[in-house]
Amino acid sequence: MTEKIYRDADVDMAPLQGKTVAVIGYGIQGKAQAANARDSGVKVIVGTRSAEESPSRKQAEADGFAAYSIGEATRLADVLLIELADPAQPPIYKAEIAPHLSAGKTICFCHGFNVLYGAIQPPKDVNTVLFVPNAPGHFVRQKYLAGEGIYGCVAVDHDATGDALAIALAVAKAVGSTRAGVVEMSFQHETEGDNFEEQILYGGAIHLMKMCFQTMVDNGYPPSFAYAKAIRSLRCVIDVMDEVGIEEYVSRRCSRTAEFAIRTRGPRVINEEAIREIFRETERGEFARDWMQEWALGMPMLHRLRRTAAAGEMEQTGRQWRQEFGT
Ligand SMILES: NC(=O)c1ccc[n+]([C@@H]2O[C@H](COP(=O)([O-])OP(=O)(O)OC[C@H]3O[C@@H](n4cnc5c(N)ncnc54)[C@H](OP(=O)(O)O)[C@@H]3O)[C@@H](O)[C@H]2O)c1
Repeated sequence: MTEKIYRDADVDMAPLQGKTVAVIGYGIQGKAQAANARDSGVKVIVGTRSAEESPSRKQAEADGFAAYSIGEATRLADVLLIELADPAQPPIYKAEIAPHLSAGKTICFCHGFNVLYGAIQPPKDVNTVLFVPNAPGHFVRQKYLAGEGIYGCVAVDHDATGDALAIALAVAKAVGSTRAGVVEMSFQHETEGDNFEEQILYGGAIHLMKMCFQTMVDNGYPPSFAYAKAIRSLRCVIDVMDEVGIEEYVSRRCSRTAEFAIRTRGPRVINEEAIREIFRETERGEFARDWMQEWALGMPMLHRLRRTAAAGEMEQTGRQWRQEFGT
């Protein structure tokens, strides 16, 4: 690979020595990154909403962290890890973080969305960087405890102190990602790549599973059989492909009938033009615009779609399936 891959030996922890790192938001990523960084010897504090508003404040304290209001944690910290849910970040940033920022601090995001689209514009005397481990929080913690790490990326949007990249890499090392490898990229690619993947892979795969289930059931198949085919069979296949590569799986680890089906029918299921159009929409900022509008309106479309989907036959079958046949 031609890209520069940063590993443990390439990264100095000096930029975090004697510094206080505040993890702002103690949810899926915040909890994992705070624990890993602390175990790596970094001084970590946590910032959350008030104890009355925030279910995670008690959890952070129970986990042994000094927990403060977001404003106070910002004031005390040299480096902020912004681990709040993305749509919640702009108002919290404006009210509680921005007033307490001062020259030389670093604000490290875990997704570039709000900076790329201008909803958050940190001052020019503050470093604006990003570190994202490519996995859900529980996995980030689990791998760290096993002595391993999660592939991740860093990006620098604004370097006020001259060592913004070194600080972002030190954060990545503290969280364990340089054990696996970390690459540098832009806020734009991190954000648009993530949003594109969510639409194409998660959106596409979930709707393929639903369509697979529904077509079988509509044609008289037992729902338990359709459910097993639509979801369960994919689970181990994904793990095998991740471990040995797609071609090894297709050529040698599945049946020849499956190989024939994959190679000849798979491309017919994919709408290449739709995928390219979603990529262009994402680059034009249309996905971001639609999502910010949906969030600002209180997520009416998502509430409606959730209710319909939860009542669907596939979900009901899934609940019974797990009881009957296990998880
Ligand atoms: N989930 C992942 O595994 C993952 C993977 C890669 C990157 N990221 C990025 O990591 C960052 C954090 O994501 P996350 O999934 O860890 O977030 P999350 O667990 O959904 O939420 C984190 C915290 O945000 C606060 N929050 C949520 N909704 C809020 C609201 N409406 N108003 C005020 N506070 C609210 C909550 O604080 P309280 O407890 O105080 O309510 C919550 O603990 C994001 O930038 C995300 O894109 C996440």
